[in-house]
Amino acid sequence: MASAKITVNGKDYTVPVVEGVTLQFALRDDLGLTGTKFGCGMAECGCCTVLIDGSPVRSCITMVTDAIGKEITTIEGLAKGGVLHPLQQAWIDLQVPQCGYCQSGQLMEAAALLSRNPHPSEQEIRQAMQGHICRCGTYNRIVKAIQLAASRM
Ligand code: FES
Ligand code: FES
Repeated sequence: MASAKITVNGKDYTVPVVEGVTLQFALRDDLGLTGTKFGCGMAECGCCTVLIDGSPVRSCITMVTDAIGKEITTIEGLAKGGVLHPLQQAWIDLQVPQCGYCQSGQLMEAAALLSRNPHPSEQEIRQAMQGHICRCGTYNRIVKAIQLAASRM
């Protein structure tokens, strides 16, 4: 079976490459990084979002082979040195999640946003996050948490 070397959260891994297998399944099934969730499988909901070289991608439609040689970051790699990312801390402080299913994707998108725009306006936040569906309706708390994290960074 063919294999591919990928770098996830700063560590190198070798994963099997089977035709049609997505990055999402490699992360979850091969590496056990189950913080990345499976929702629609069609790039519609955002819950599978991870970062590739700092940019948010939908891992449910990204092939493993498209991630070779690039730096993948998942929710498990957002905290550094045992310290939560300011977004994670803000999420806790404002009690953002309800069921939580969408939240790892939301956090990864928000992390990418603050990397490219450290002080986004409310409109810029809503625009960046608009592709993420939350069945629990936590949208307003997400906006407030991103603003709180930005104010602390
Ligand atoms: S599971 Fe990838 S966007 Fe919904
Ligand atoms: S917190 Fe339940 S789907 Fe978003």
